[in-house]
Amino acid sequence: MSAGRPFTCSVFIGVSLDGFIAREDGDLHWLTSRGEAAGGDLGYQEFIDGIDTVVMGRGTYEPGLTYDPWPHEGRHCAVLSTTLPLGADPRVTVHRDLGSLLRALEERGTKSVYVDGGQVIRTFLREGLIDELTITTVPVLIGSGLPLFGPVGRDVPLAHVSTRVFGAGVVQSTYGVVRPG
Ligand SMILES: NC(=O)c1ccc[n+]([C@@H]2O[C@H](COP(=O)([O-])OP(=O)(O)OC[C@H]3O[C@@H](n4cnc5c(N)ncnc54)[C@H](OP(=O)(O)O)[C@@H]3O)[C@@H](O)[C@H]2O)c1
Repeated sequence: MSAGRPFTCSVFIGVSLDGFIAREDGDLHWLTSRGEAAGGDLGYQEFIDGIDTVVMGRGTYEPGLTYDPWPHEGRHCAVLSTTLPLGADPRVTVHRDLGSLLRALEERGTKSVYVDGGQVIRTFLREGLIDELTITTVPVLIGSGLPLFGPVGRDVPLAHVSTRVFGAGVVQSTYGVVRPG
């Protein structure tokens, strides 16, 4: 339970040191190659074991269609999009707006949400919905690309939870979002 909601919302995402989650054309090799060099799964399995629902934007869902096997088997998977056809992919539920998504999650008895995709993460931050962020930073500056963070209308105070240093200079930090007292 968090901030009056029956579920928690967590981010687990990889970024370049200059704050991008993908190149403009969607390329992720700069990230995946360094993740592989670091070795292991960088805590992903431990994180995902505590998650019952994945929420992502169309921008994350569409490139993920090439993954074999589908990485979200066994978890409810919701996609925010104003353009994807509803019901075309039985593995996901498409929602047209945040309000309908949040109502559906509550009705399903959702407990723990993994929020993925830059725009969607910023939407959740703007609405005060994120509880925890785990950011895995790989040591490269890519100069331009799709950003993780951007204006959310106000400062978001954070409390540092932990930092782990993996091989190949990969650094992972977890922060909790501090709620107004
Ligand atoms: N580095 C990593 O760990 C990591 C993790 C995840 C994704 N990625 C990469 O990041 C890129 C995608 O990120 P992104 O920031 O471009 O996009 P995103 O957040 O995944 O998706 C953006 C899309 O989601 C929909 N959307 C967002 N907010 C909405 C709302 N409130 N209501 C309705 N629909 C909403 C819109 O789809 P419509 O246009 O259909 O309305 C929007 O175009 C991909 O290249 C992906 O591979 C990287």
